[in-house]
Formats: sequence, C-alpha cells, structure tokens
Amino acid sequence: MGIQRIESVTYSIADLDECVRFFDDFGLFLVERTEEHAVFETLTGQTLHLDTDPHPLLPPPVEDGPTLREVVWGVDTREELRRLVDAVGRDHVVRESADGVFHTVDRSGFGVGLTLARPKKTAVEARPANTLGGVNRWNTALEPLTRAYPLRMCHVALNIAKEGREEAVAFYTGLLGFRPTDVVEPMGVFMQAPGDDDQHTMLLCHRPDRVGVNHIAYEVPGFDDVIEGGNHMIERGWREARKLGRHTIGSNVFRFLHAPCGGRVEYAADMDRVDDTYETRVHETTPPHHIWALRTNRDQDAATGA
Ligand SMILES: [Fe+2]
Repeated sequence: MGIQRIESVTYSIADLDECVRFFDDFGLFLVERTEEHAVFETLTGQTLHLDTDPHPLLPPPVEDGPTLREVVWGVDTREELRRLVDAVGRDHVVRESADGVFHTVDRSGFGVGLTLARPKKTAVEARPANTLGGVNRWNTALEPLTRAYPLRMCHVALNIAKEGREEAVAFYTGLLGFRPTDVVEPMGVFMQAPGDDDQHTMLLCHRPDRVGVNHIAYEVPGFDDVIEGGNHMIERGWREARKLGRHTIGSNVFRFLHAPCGGRVEYAADMDRVDDTYETRVHETTPPHHIWALRTNRDQDAATGA
C-alpha cells in the first residue's frame, strides 16, 4: 500500500525551554530531553523532534527563524519502502541514517524521510453523544476534560512557491503515491497518503508564494478536546492563531495556535474520511475557508455594559 502516516517531524528551533513548555501544554509526551534537543510523542507513537543543533545531513532551512526541517513518512512494508526509496533515488540523492530512515529533499527544499511505520495502539474514547432518537449516554454526567492529548499528527501543510508548483506536487503524487483529493487552483493541492483514510494527509499551499511551514494538525477525539485543548493553551499564555471553526475542505473542526517552533499547530477533530471512490475535485475558485467559525457579540455587550 505504501505511506501510512507521518512518522516523525523535525524542527530547528532557538528556544528549547519555550518549545518544550509549548508541546507539554499542547498534550504531547516528552520522551527525551538533552541540552540541545527534545523529543515528544503522540499517543500513537509518532515523534516530534525539536533541535537547537539539527543534524548536518538535513537540508538548509527553507526560511529564517525556527522552522520545520523534515517530515519522515511511515511506510507499511519493507518491500514498499524499498520500492519508494528506489523510485526517489532515480533522480534524488537519498541517504540512509543509522536509525533506518532514508533521507532526501523535496522540490521546495523540505527534508523528506521514509521509514517503516511503527504505529502504537491506543484506546480512543470518543465521548458518547445524545440526541433525540440517538441516546448514547445514560445516567452519566460529563466532566471537564481540562486539556487535550492528541492521538496523532494527521496532516501537514507546507507553503511552497507558485513557480514550479506542479513539480513540487508531482514529487509527492508521482514518486510517493499521494493522491490529490481537492485541487484548489488559486491556492494549493490537498492530497491523501495511500494508507490514510483522512480526506487530506498533506496540503501544498502556493497562495502566499513563499516557502515555509504552514501548520501541522493533530487529531483529538472530539469537539470538546478541540475547545478545551485550545482553552488550556490560552490559559497557559500561548497565542491563538485562528479561532474555533469547521473547515470547508475536509470538514474538520479546528482551532489553531502560533507555535514557537515555527508555523502553527491545529487541534483537529471529525475530518472527512474518503476512500478510492472519492474522485479528485478541482476548484477553479477557492471555496470558503470554513463552513462556520465561532462568532460572538458578547464582548461588545460587555464593553457597552449591556
Ligand atoms: Fe489543517
């Protein structure tokens, strides 16, 4: 089948203490910490590497300041891994590191790794919901979650240059087996990894016409986790980048935060799942960003004393 999921990501950063505080508050689990770097894990065993002194084999950073340096993709079998490495190796330099990761560089300058996927099983407990005719929760009052613990990194969004965008996309679709799900001509291409069910595993966005990290999304079990996780981050002093809403493409509920490692992170829940019967949709104009976003006039009322 091929690529299943994001296996790990590496950021080069300046302030390790600040980044560790951020991802600890965000709900990832610290598994390693030295003076120079830290490693966090999601509940399904994907790793986030924060490095003040990144590996010399990584390509140069694509932008100034802290940023994403590499995304390593997890592949289901040794045979598929070999096949992908051979395909990429035909016209790209590929280096293998001691930990069994094959490293190369995409057409925009982001590091790309390939390795065997090592998914960790985790028990997912989505909250049972009640509605007329569909009662799933009897005699049980809800408790606050107080914070969120991401199940997995579910998608990565990278900004790419307008010029050469077809080649940038072709690296993932032609060589790595990603399938475009929604092509938004003025904005970018949403694509799905062959072993993933999510409507998109990756977005290459050319709208800002500037190469850099846009965001990485982390799936949480439900809406409450998106809201309470975001509230917890705000209480801890982090800055919200986009308030609660539901995307048009992918239908996921979202909340975004500015991340000190570069770009933003997204709490995401309830994304569309699509299989091979979902045909690529091509949009000549950009659809609305969201189906809905949180609106309030409560603050105005407070300001006028109403
Ligand atoms: Fe997203």
